[in-house]
Amino acid sequence: MLQQNTGGKNSPVTVVVFGATGDLAQKKIFPALFHLYQKKQLPKNLTIIGFGRRDFTDDAFRQFVDATIKNNSGSINSFLKIVRYQKGLFDDQTGYRELINNIKQIQRASAVCTNLILYLATPPQFYKTICEHIKISGLSVPCVFNNQNPWVRILIEKPFGRDAETARELDAMLATLFQEEQIYRIDHYLAKETIRNLLAFRFANPLFSTAWSAGWIQSIRISVLERQTIGSRGLFYDGVGALRDIGQNHMLQMLALIAMDQPGSWNPDEIRAKRCEVFEAIEKPTPKTIAATSARGQYRGYRNELYVSAKSTTETYFILKTKLTAGRLKNVPVILEGGKGMEEDCIEIAIDFKSPPSELFPDQENVKLVYRVQPNEHIALDMFVKKPGDTMILDRQQFVFDYKMPYQSAEFLAAYEKLLLDAIAGNQTLFVSTQEINASWNMIDLYSTRWQHDQSNLMPYTVGKTAKFRKSMRAMVE
Ligand code: BG6
Repeated sequence: MLQQNTGGKNSPVTVVVFGATGDLAQKKIFPALFHLYQKKQLPKNLTIIGFGRRDFTDDAFRQFVDATIKNNSGSINSFLKIVRYQKGLFDDQTGYRELINNIKQIQRASAVCTNLILYLATPPQFYKTICEHIKISGLSVPCVFNNQNPWVRILIEKPFGRDAETARELDAMLATLFQEEQIYRIDHYLAKETIRNLLAFRFANPLFSTAWSAGWIQSIRISVLERQTIGSRGLFYDGVGALRDIGQNHMLQMLALIAMDQPGSWNPDEIRAKRCEVFEAIEKPTPKTIAATSARGQYRGYRNELYVSAKSTTETYFILKTKLTAGRLKNVPVILEGGKGMEEDCIEIAIDFKSPPSELFPDQENVKLVYRVQPNEHIALDMFVKKPGDTMILDRQQFVFDYKMPYQSAEFLAAYEKLLLDAIAGNQTLFVSTQEINASWNMIDLYSTRWQHDQSNLMPYTVGKTAKFRKSMRAMVE
């Protein structure tokens, strides 16, 4: 008699990683799968199949994964036993056919169909081709038994499309294969501990709720500054640029979590809809406004990076000033600034609170709140205190909450671990809805189109020496 598989906890799960030998798979996905395995958080009956074009046998691929994870504990060997390899080209049906035959064979042998995660960890230019081949091969409905009902989910890395139109095309293609509930669009920032804490910080501390309004907030600054350059990612990065790489997704999601209204429940659709309301409220600037309120940079030497065009006008840095046209933070200026080759790593949200006139302290400066996402995760709130002594002199001091300090024995869950756990559990809260994608591209496209036509705002800067450069960029837009 056949076993029923309706997606329960002990049902078998197969994770197919397309782009299994790529950067992302090596740095994030396989280490995350291994840690979850070590912590026994993965389904018992899990198989991982790496799909890639290299000529690996299962064993050669296991050695590759082993070298990637670099872990000497005993559990690596048992983890590697659940790892397999399927050689295939993204644009050739042969590999897909062999993959589905293997999956079907396993299903027949065990008389149970497997739940399936298809993880597209490839450069975005391959998404469409892979989806077409998934369709032709029947990989989206691989169960061989009629009376079983396993789930199939597709995980897609960002950027989802390169503008609103290509995102819609990709969605239309996916819709021929999957329901929206099966599509998991990744923005790993949503799964970072500090970013997930934003909802707790805002809504579990009602103290802030009155101050969280346009009446009290003077400006918001969201920065994703990274010391690293693009390294060997030229093939991916040169067609994308900083705005599409981190602006359209990570930075707008941070803005959404800072500005959204409190959802009525933890229902994933409700939370995603609240985030989307923020994207829809972002001002749609005219070309003239864009010219006056945005600037871009490219680090010196970028054009010599591997796979980067010698005439590239891709930005590795951008800054722009925008605002929301509705909601609690209506008209509050929002500065988004992101770039590579910066002087420091600093991913944070800084909020400047207004200081209403005070009889006693007429010259009081603004209070600032800094919400540091990474590194040195912390929340710092300025306070004015009386400087000890005879006269009433105010002094700015900071109340700092070091996020890691009280939780030294607890583990910060890596973003990719959380994403994999949620995808397996079928929770889409930390994945981006099609509406969010659409609304965010609608805003970003205005900037990228304008920038494409006007290269005059692309300024050079020197890697690691960016203080003066950033100051001048800020002065241009603020
Ligand atoms: C990725 C971008 O999505 O996020 C990279 O493609 C960027 O360019 C990275 O460096 C930053 O992620 P994290 O988790 O290192 O902050």
